[in-house]
Amino acid sequence: MRNHFIFKLLLSLTVLPPVEQPVTPVLAAPGSDVTLSCSFPQRETDSLDSVIVNWQRGDTEVVHSYYRRKDQLQRQSSAYRGRTQLFPEELSVGNASLRLRGVQGSDHGEYICAVANEMSKIQEKLLLLVAAPYDEPQLAVQTSCDIIIVTLTSSQGFPQPTVMWRDTTGSDISNESHTHIELDNRGRYTVHSELKLKLKDSQTLTVEMSLDVLKQSFSHSLTFQPLPDSF
Ligand SMILES: *[C@@H]1O[C@H](CO)[C@@H](O)[C@H](O)[C@H]1NC(C)=O
Ligand SMILES: *[C@@H]1O[C@H](CO)[C@@H](O)[C@H](O)[C@H]1NC(C)=O
Repeated sequence: MRNHFIFKLLLSLTVLPPVEQPVTPVLAAPGSDVTLSCSFPQRETDSLDSVIVNWQRGDTEVVHSYYRRKDQLQRQSSAYRGRTQLFPEELSVGNASLRLRGVQGSDHGEYICAVANEMSKIQEKLLLLVAAPYDEPQLAVQTSCDIIIVTLTSSQGFPQPTVMWRDTTGSDISNESHTHIELDNRGRYTVHSELKLKLKDSQTLTVEMSLDVLKQSFSHSLTFQPLPDSF
Protein backbone atom coordinates (compact mmCIF):
# COMPACT_ATOMS: atom_id res chain seq x y z
CA MET A 1 0.00 0.00 0.00
CA ARG A 2 1.25 3.38 -0.90
CA ASN A 3 0.78 5.60 2.02
CA HIS A 4 3.34 7.99 0.92
CA PHE A 5 2.13 10.69 -1.37
CA ILE A 6 3.99 13.70 -2.29
CA PHE A 7 1.81 16.55 -3.14
CA LYS A 8 3.40 19.13 -5.22
CA LEU A 9 1.12 22.01 -5.01
CA LEU A 10 1.72 24.80 -7.44
CA LEU A 11 -0.36 27.70 -6.49
CA SER A 12 -0.46 30.52 -8.89
CA LEU A 13 -2.63 33.08 -7.32
CA THR A 14 -3.47 36.00 -9.43
CA VAL A 15 -4.60 39.01 -7.51
CA LEU A 16 -6.61 41.28 -9.72
CA PRO A 17 -5.95 44.98 -9.28
CA PRO A 18 -8.60 47.07 -7.51
CA VAL A 19 -11.25 48.57 -9.74
CA GLU A 20 -9.62 51.96 -10.13
CA GLN A 21 -5.88 52.21 -9.76
CA PRO A 22 -4.32 55.62 -9.45
CA VAL A 23 -2.97 56.67 -12.82
CA THR A 24 0.78 57.11 -12.74
CA PRO A 25 2.01 60.10 -14.75
CA VAL A 26 5.08 59.72 -16.93
CA LEU A 27 6.68 62.92 -18.17
CA ALA A 28 8.19 63.25 -21.64
CA ALA A 29 9.27 66.29 -23.65
CA PRO A 30 8.24 66.62 -27.30
CA GLY A 31 10.92 65.10 -29.53
CA SER A 32 12.25 62.76 -26.84
CA ASP A 33 11.85 58.99 -26.42
CA VAL A 34 10.03 57.49 -23.44
CA THR A 35 9.47 54.06 -21.89
CA LEU A 36 6.01 53.31 -20.52
CA SER A 37 6.36 50.65 -17.83
CA CYS A 38 4.11 47.63 -17.50
CA SER A 39 4.67 44.37 -15.60
CA PHE A 40 2.74 41.12 -15.52
CA PRO A 41 3.19 37.82 -13.64
CA GLN A 42 5.41 35.62 -15.80
CA ARG A 43 8.22 33.29 -14.83
CA GLU A 44 11.10 32.48 -17.11
CA THR A 45 9.90 28.85 -17.29
CA ASP A 46 6.45 29.89 -18.58
CA SER A 47 5.90 29.73 -22.30
CA LEU A 48 5.44 32.92 -24.28
CA ASP A 49 3.05 31.17 -26.68
CA SER A 50 -0.07 32.34 -24.87
CA VAL A 51 1.14 35.85 -24.01
CA ILE A 52 -0.99 38.62 -25.47
CA VAL A 53 0.12 42.22 -25.00
CA ASN A 54 -2.08 45.12 -26.01
CA TRP A 55 -1.08 48.72 -25.57
CA GLN A 56 -3.98 50.99 -26.38
CA ARG A 57 -5.56 54.40 -25.89
CA GLY A 58 -9.21 54.41 -25.02
CA ASP A 59 -11.11 51.30 -26.02
CA THR A 60 -10.19 51.18 -29.66
CA GLU A 61 -6.93 52.91 -30.61
CA VAL A 62 -4.17 50.30 -30.91
CA VAL A 63 -0.75 51.62 -29.94
CA HIS A 64 1.08 48.27 -30.08
CA SER A 65 -0.02 44.67 -30.11
CA TYR A 66 1.83 41.34 -29.65
CA TYR A 67 0.66 37.72 -29.71
CA ARG A 68 1.82 34.35 -31.10
CA ARG A 69 5.34 35.48 -30.14
CA LYS A 70 5.29 38.34 -32.64
CA ASP A 71 4.44 42.01 -32.99
CA GLN A 72 1.05 42.24 -34.66
CA LEU A 73 0.79 45.70 -36.10
CA GLN A 74 -1.98 45.30 -38.69
CA ARG A 75 -4.44 47.26 -36.58
CA GLN A 76 -1.92 49.73 -35.16
CA SER A 77 -3.05 53.35 -35.25
CA SER A 78 -1.16 55.27 -37.94
CA ALA A 79 -0.28 57.87 -35.32
CA TYR A 80 2.12 55.32 -33.75
CA ARG A 81 3.46 53.63 -36.89
CA GLY A 82 7.21 53.07 -36.72
CA ARG A 83 7.51 54.67 -33.28
CA THR A 84 6.81 51.81 -30.86
CA GLN A 85 8.61 48.71 -29.67
CA LEU A 86 8.40 46.15 -26.89
CA PHE A 87 11.51 44.60 -25.40
CA PRO A 88 11.16 40.98 -26.62
CA GLU A 89 13.81 39.56 -24.27
CA GLU A 90 12.03 41.20 -21.32
CA LEU A 91 8.63 39.59 -21.99
CA SER A 92 9.83 36.26 -20.59
CA VAL A 93 10.39 37.93 -17.22
CA GLY A 94 7.04 39.72 -17.19
CA ASN A 95 8.11 43.10 -18.53
CA ALA A 96 5.76 44.43 -21.22
CA SER A 97 7.13 47.99 -21.19
CA LEU A 98 6.71 50.00 -24.37
CA ARG A 99 9.28 52.25 -25.96
CA LEU A 100 7.76 55.26 -27.73
CA ARG A 101 10.07 57.30 -29.92
CA GLY A 102 9.75 60.91 -31.06
CA VAL A 103 7.11 61.97 -28.54
CA GLN A 104 4.55 64.44 -29.95
CA GLY A 105 2.05 66.74 -28.30
CA SER A 106 -0.77 64.51 -29.54
CA ASP A 107 0.68 61.55 -27.58
CA HIS A 108 -0.41 63.24 -24.36
CA GLY A 109 -3.06 61.26 -22.49
CA GLU A 110 -3.98 57.97 -20.88
CA TYR A 111 -2.60 54.61 -22.03
CA ILE A 112 -3.76 51.12 -21.13
CA CYS A 113 -1.41 48.14 -20.98
CA ALA A 114 -3.41 44.90 -21.06
CA VAL A 115 -1.58 41.57 -20.81
CA ALA A 116 -3.02 38.08 -20.74
CA ASN A 117 -1.18 34.78 -20.34
CA GLU A 118 -2.22 31.29 -19.27
CA MET A 119 -2.57 32.25 -15.64
CA SER A 120 -3.72 35.81 -15.50
CA LYS A 121 -4.98 38.98 -17.06
CA ILE A 122 -3.73 42.35 -15.96
CA GLN A 123 -4.55 45.87 -16.98
CA GLU A 124 -2.54 48.94 -16.05
CA LYS A 125 -3.25 52.57 -16.80
CA LEU A 126 -0.60 55.23 -17.32
CA LEU A 127 -0.79 58.91 -18.05
CA LEU A 128 1.76 60.23 -20.50
CA LEU A 129 2.27 63.87 -19.69
CA VAL A 130 3.85 65.62 -22.67
CA ALA A 131 5.52 68.75 -21.35
CA ALA A 132 8.85 70.56 -21.32
CA PRO A 133 9.95 73.48 -19.13
CA TYR A 134 10.56 76.88 -20.69
CA ASP A 135 13.95 78.58 -20.66
CA GLU A 136 14.27 81.58 -18.39
CA PRO A 137 12.43 84.35 -20.30
CA GLN A 138 14.56 87.15 -21.73
CA LEU A 139 13.29 90.73 -21.75
CA ALA A 140 14.29 93.31 -24.34
CA VAL A 141 13.41 97.01 -24.20
CA GLN A 142 13.26 99.34 -27.18
CA THR A 143 12.38 103.01 -26.97
CA SER A 144 11.45 105.53 -29.56
CA CYS A 145 10.36 109.00 -28.44
CA ASP A 146 7.85 108.38 -25.67
CA ILE A 147 6.98 104.81 -26.74
CA ILE A 148 8.56 101.88 -25.00
CA ILE A 149 8.32 98.39 -26.46
CA VAL A 150 9.04 95.54 -24.07
CA THR A 151 9.44 92.06 -25.53
CA LEU A 152 9.55 88.80 -23.61
CA THR A 153 11.09 85.80 -25.37
CA SER A 154 11.23 82.24 -24.08
CA SER A 155 11.68 78.92 -25.84
CA GLN A 156 12.00 75.12 -25.52
CA GLY A 157 8.73 74.70 -23.65
CA PHE A 158 5.52 72.72 -24.07
CA PRO A 159 2.54 73.16 -23.95
CA GLN A 160 1.67 76.85 -24.44
CA PRO A 161 2.31 79.05 -21.39
CA THR A 162 0.15 81.85 -20.08
CA VAL A 163 1.68 85.32 -20.28
CA MET A 164 0.26 88.17 -18.26
CA TRP A 165 1.28 91.83 -18.21
CA ARG A 166 0.47 94.13 -15.29
CA ASP A 167 0.76 97.88 -14.85
CA THR A 168 1.98 99.86 -11.82
CA THR A 169 -1.24 99.22 -9.94
CA GLY A 170 -1.13 95.49 -10.65
CA SER A 171 -4.03 95.62 -13.11
CA ASP A 172 -4.01 93.14 -15.94
CA ILE A 173 -3.13 94.97 -19.15
CA SER A 174 -2.54 91.85 -21.24
CA ASN A 175 -5.19 93.01 -23.68
CA GLU A 176 -2.69 95.67 -24.78
CA SER A 177 -0.03 93.06 -25.57
CA HIS A 178 0.59 90.96 -28.61
CA THR A 179 1.76 87.33 -28.22
CA HIS A 180 3.16 85.23 -30.99
CA ILE A 181 3.91 81.53 -30.49
CA GLU A 182 5.74 79.26 -32.91
CA LEU A 183 6.60 75.57 -32.91
CA ASP A 184 10.23 74.52 -33.42
CA ASN A 185 11.29 71.41 -35.32
CA ARG A 186 11.19 69.24 -32.18
CA GLY A 187 7.64 70.29 -31.35
CA ARG A 188 8.42 72.80 -28.59
CA TYR A 189 7.24 76.38 -28.48
CA THR A 190 9.03 79.71 -28.72
CA VAL A 191 7.00 82.56 -27.26
CA HIS A 192 7.33 86.25 -28.09
CA SER A 193 5.10 88.63 -26.22
CA GLU A 194 5.28 92.34 -26.81
CA LEU A 195 3.80 95.29 -24.98
CA LYS A 196 3.82 98.90 -26.19
CA LEU A 197 3.74 101.48 -23.48
CA LYS A 198 3.41 105.21 -23.61
CA LEU A 199 5.89 106.69 -21.18
CA LYS A 200 4.17 109.12 -18.87
CA ASP A 201 5.02 109.30 -15.19
CA SER A 202 7.28 106.79 -13.57
CA GLN A 203 5.74 103.37 -14.02
CA THR A 204 6.42 99.75 -13.24
CA LEU A 205 5.61 97.04 -15.68
CA THR A 206 5.42 93.40 -14.58
CA VAL A 207 5.28 90.40 -16.84
CA GLU A 208 4.41 86.94 -15.57
CA MET A 209 4.78 83.74 -17.53
CA SER A 210 3.67 80.35 -16.26
CA LEU A 211 3.35 76.74 -17.31
CA ASP A 212 0.91 75.27 -14.81
CA VAL A 213 1.39 71.63 -15.74
CA LEU A 214 5.05 71.80 -14.60
CA LYS A 215 4.37 74.38 -11.86
CA GLN A 216 6.80 76.71 -13.58
CA SER A 217 6.42 80.46 -13.20
CA PHE A 218 8.50 83.54 -13.86
CA SER A 219 7.89 87.13 -12.95
CA HIS A 220 9.92 90.16 -14.00
CA SER A 221 9.34 93.83 -13.22
CA LEU A 222 10.77 96.86 -14.96
CA THR A 223 10.52 100.45 -13.77
CA PHE A 224 10.61 103.32 -16.24
CA GLN A 225 11.34 106.93 -15.37
CA PRO A 226 10.65 109.69 -17.87
CA LEU A 227 13.71 111.79 -18.61
CA PRO A 228 13.62 115.34 -17.30
CA ASP A 229 12.13 117.76 -19.83
CA SER A 230 15.39 119.67 -20.14
CA PHE A 231 17.15 116.58 -21.51
C1 LIG B 1 11.65 46.60 -18.65
O1 LIG B 1 12.62 46.62 -19.67
C2 LIG B 1 13.10 47.91 -20.02
C3 LIG B 1 14.09 47.75 -21.17
O2 LIG B 1 15.13 46.90 -20.86
C4 LIG B 1 13.76 48.54 -18.80
O3 LIG B 1 14.16 49.86 -19.12
C5 LIG B 1 12.77 48.57 -17.64
O4 LIG B 1 13.39 49.08 -16.50
C6 LIG B 1 12.23 47.20 -17.37
N1 LIG B 1 11.21 47.27 -16.35
C7 LIG B 1 11.20 46.48 -15.29
C8 LIG B 1 10.08 46.65 -14.33
O5 LIG B 1 12.09 45.66 -15.11
C1 LIG C 1 -7.76 97.00 -22.36
O1 LIG C 1 -8.64 97.00 -21.26
C2 LIG C 1 -8.75 98.26 -20.59
C3 LIG C 1 -9.60 98.09 -19.35
O2 LIG C 1 -10.32 96.92 -19.37
C4 LIG C 1 -9.32 99.30 -21.56
O3 LIG C 1 -9.38 100.56 -20.92
C5 LIG C 1 -8.39 99.38 -22.78
O4 LIG C 1 -8.95 100.26 -23.73
C6 LIG C 1 -8.22 98.01 -23.41
N1 LIG C 1 -7.24 98.11 -24.49
C7 LIG C 1 -7.40 97.52 -25.65
C8 LIG C 1 -6.29 97.69 -26.64
O5 LIG C 1 -8.38 96.86 -25.92
